[in-house]
Amino acid sequence: MKYAFLTLKENPEIILGELKSVLNVNGKYKIEEMLENLIFVEIEKIDLEIINRLALTKEVFIVLAEFNKIEDLNVKFKVKKDYCVREHVLDGKKSNLEKTISKIIYDQTKKEVNFKNPTDFFRIFIYKNRKFLCKKIWKNENKFETRKNQHRPFKFPTSAHPKWARVFVNLTEIKKGKKIFDPFCGTGGFLIEAGLIGAKVYGSDISKKMVNGTRENLEFFGIRHSEIKQSDISKIDEKFKEKFDACVTGLPYGIASKKIGETTELFLENIPNKIRGKIVFTSNLNKIKFKERVLKSKYEIYIHKNLSNFIYVLN
Ligand SMILES: C[S@@+](CC[C@H](N)C(=O)[O-])C[C@H]1O[C@@H](n2cnc3c(N)ncnc32)[C@H](O)[C@@H]1O
Repeated sequence: MKYAFLTLKENPEIILGELKSVLNVNGKYKIEEMLENLIFVEIEKIDLEIINRLALTKEVFIVLAEFNKIEDLNVKFKVKKDYCVREHVLDGKKSNLEKTISKIIYDQTKKEVNFKNPTDFFRIFIYKNRKFLCKKIWKNENKFETRKNQHRPFKFPTSAHPKWARVFVNLTEIKKGKKIFDPFCGTGGFLIEAGLIGAKVYGSDISKKMVNGTRENLEFFGIRHSEIKQSDISKIDEKFKEKFDACVTGLPYGIASKKIGETTELFLENIPNKIRGKIVFTSNLNKIKFKERVLKSKYEIYIHKNLSNFIYVLN
């Protein structure tokens, strides 16, 4: 079945990276094409609980048909209770087909139109001279704003926006019930998002205050399976005996660059052999060498004038 993912517009590379990572967890798929911020994907079997992890996708549709002239549209419509048809021009001119298609659906189903809250929402996407008729099956209701730093019991300004924290977690391709580790957990921002998608979360931080803060925040968001310990990055092996399935973390920044370099080295010395799967980390360092792991992808997120953050994904 063919699906269309309507995404945000900025950072198309990382949007595609996040989508591919989530689809890797979902199962077999093939990305067919990308028209502006609409990505077409052939998927054997879709699991909406997994799709619901996405942060940078706004809506998902089943593609019912691509058509040129309205006479060519050959779709058997099904409507639960009521419906609405809306057009979205990605590029090009309006088709003004909303009413015509709405009438076709009415003639087939005899269901009523409801613009406010329809059970079935149809979208006509226009891209130049191409038209796609789609039906919405998912909307992003992941309320990332409600988990921002200021809404947590333990607050600390260095915590990334929950939407980005979720993206980094998604890039690890962690499966539900598997163990994810953040060795610089800070306020627990990454672990909250990992816990919300059903991963078992483990974390550590050199600061006792942060360790207690992370515990408090995880409890506040109802994340039950967690273990947070105080540890310096060089002592991880002594503190945690087990191995983890993935690592997601934000390397310390804002301190002297020599110190950042040292912490990065210690991270790369101590973490890879504790992690079975992917390692995803953010850093403001642009050039990092890897010995034990292969760099799968690297993304740059532009923050402001002279500041970028880099996202590294290691296999
Ligand atoms: C960028 S912050 C992490 C922010 C976190 N992702 C969050 O959501 O709040 C980096 C954290 O690394 C911790 N840290 C710095 N040096 C460390 C070290 N040598 N070992 C372990 N933790 C360290 C700091 O206490 C800080 O909480």
